[in-house]
Amino acid sequence: MSQQIEAAKKLAAFTAVDNHVKPTDKFIGIGSGSTVPYVVDRILQQGEEVNKDRIFLPTGFQSRQLIVNGGLRLGDVSQYTHIDVTIDGADEVDSNLNCIKGGGACQLQEKVLAEAANTFIVVADFRKKSSILGTSWKQGVPIEVAPGAYAPMLERLKKMGSPNAALRMAKMKAGPVVTDNGNFVIDAPFSEEDYKNPKELLVKLKMLTGVVEVGLFCDMAKAAYFGNEDGSVSVRW
Ligand code: 5RP
Repeated sequence: MSQQIEAAKKLAAFTAVDNHVKPTDKFIGIGSGSTVPYVVDRILQQGEEVNKDRIFLPTGFQSRQLIVNGGLRLGDVSQYTHIDVTIDGADEVDSNLNCIKGGGACQLQEKVLAEAANTFIVVADFRKKSSILGTSWKQGVPIEVAPGAYAPMLERLKKMGSPNAALRMAKMKAGPVVTDNGNFVIDAPFSEEDYKNPKELLVKLKMLTGVVEVGLFCDMAKAAYFGNEDGSVSVRW
């Protein structure tokens, strides 16, 4: 099973790069997670000649390391605000290309790079494909929150229909997960009814005081590539 999942991630990533990272693209956003290393592998296979003139923008510490270790040129979205293409993973993608993201706690920078890109492409294995959000990703919507606001926010989320909203804890429960921006993450599962209209849910969540960013990506992806169990790849756009 795990070999099949790895093969699926690789296939999705390679196909997306082949279809969307053109030789003329100069500014490329690199997302986070376990699928994205295959994106960088494929970009490296495009060759030094094309990559030497490109600038790569990371969505977090992990993708920064991928860029640096690959010998690629690192840039920052505060210098380069227009990105040709950003490719990133997702925790779940619905039939309208709405995504839950932030399983790796990078949702703020991921959204900044997705929004700054002309083309935002999602790559994932078959487990991430669903018709309604919340079907396969049960952990809930990752919400990045200012540390001083997390406790009242948990109360508010519970009243808003997420009774199991919880502060994300680090391994061994050593303390809360802290994002690259120094914030905490709350995972808030919602009902199927709420997930049927992710944009409405996103707007409600963004209104809460202390919310830095919400891991619901609505109307952002141009296409999503899924590596399938049978070794094929499917695309939603
Ligand atoms: C990190 C993310 C990742 O893109 C998401 O968790 C998918 O990761 P993977 O490719 O490991 O399935 O949103 O915040």
